[in-house]
Amino acid sequence: MTAKSIDGKAFAQKIVEALRVEVAKFHAQSGVKPALAVILVGEDAASQVYVRNKGKKAVEAGFESLEFRLDAAVSEQALLDKISALNNDEAVHGILVQLPLPEHIDSDKVLNHIAPEKDVDGFHPVNIGRLWSGNPVSIPCTPLGCSLILKDYFGDLSGKQAVVVGRSNIVGKPMAALLLQMNATVCIAHSKTADLPALLAQADIVVAAVGQANFIRGEWLKADAVVLDVGINRITDEDGQTKLVGDVDFISAREKVAAITPVPGGIGPMTIACLLKNTLACARKIQGL
Ligand code: GUN
Repeated sequence: MTAKSIDGKAFAQKIVEALRVEVAKFHAQSGVKPALAVILVGEDAASQVYVRNKGKKAVEAGFESLEFRLDAAVSEQALLDKISALNNDEAVHGILVQLPLPEHIDSDKVLNHIAPEKDVDGFHPVNIGRLWSGNPVSIPCTPLGCSLILKDYFGDLSGKQAVVVGRSNIVGKPMAALLLQMNATVCIAHSKTADLPALLAQADIVVAAVGQANFIRGEWLKADAVVLDVGINRITDEDGQTKLVGDVDFISAREKVAAITPVPGGIGPMTIACLLKNTLACARKIQGL
């Protein structure tokens, strides 16, 4: 039997439509639109696409969308000053600095400079701490999107074995925190893990976030596994066409598992929907609603 492909795009659209209603209510109550400010430094092609898509969805859901494009050579101090200005701007409720940043800029310093109450990425150390202590405000958007898909699929994750492949601050680590909070038994695998196929053979839930095209093979997975593929890798196929693929070899995995998210159209759209969810939550808190 071929696995069910989980339609993240449709799920995300439902969230965006529900947010539209909530945003209109917020606007009526407060007299202001929830506003998301996105800072993009440099010309990274993938980042430009993400930022454009975020802006489009924000406007579609009724948010105010502010975009600030800074030159790749901008000084760290100038970027910090821009963040300070947005921290102090009452009309701004959420701030996101698109990663990766150019090498001359200390990303940690930049993320730590965003006011925790406007940190829609959930990357500030205060918000990371709140996530692990079980009392989060903003939850990193990609793991939040994954957790909503899992909640929809399983309801309760008690008794489930989850393997997160990848230990990044953006996906792997916060994903593990959320799975733990949802009562799954969690293992984080990474590039130094000895026998990944043996671990995956036990996994009811696999979250793949390693950034390597088609890295995880269908044969490694359990027959009833649910697989969330966070990878977005651009490859050139045999016909010389470039295309996007995930971290999981979709063709072999789809023959083996119970359900899998496709790339594109799986986790990507959920990330943006969750960013907007976080932005509205920050705006409500700031406005006392
Ligand atoms: N770059 C890739 N993913 C993300 C994300 O979730 N947030 C930010 N700020 N940058 C990213």
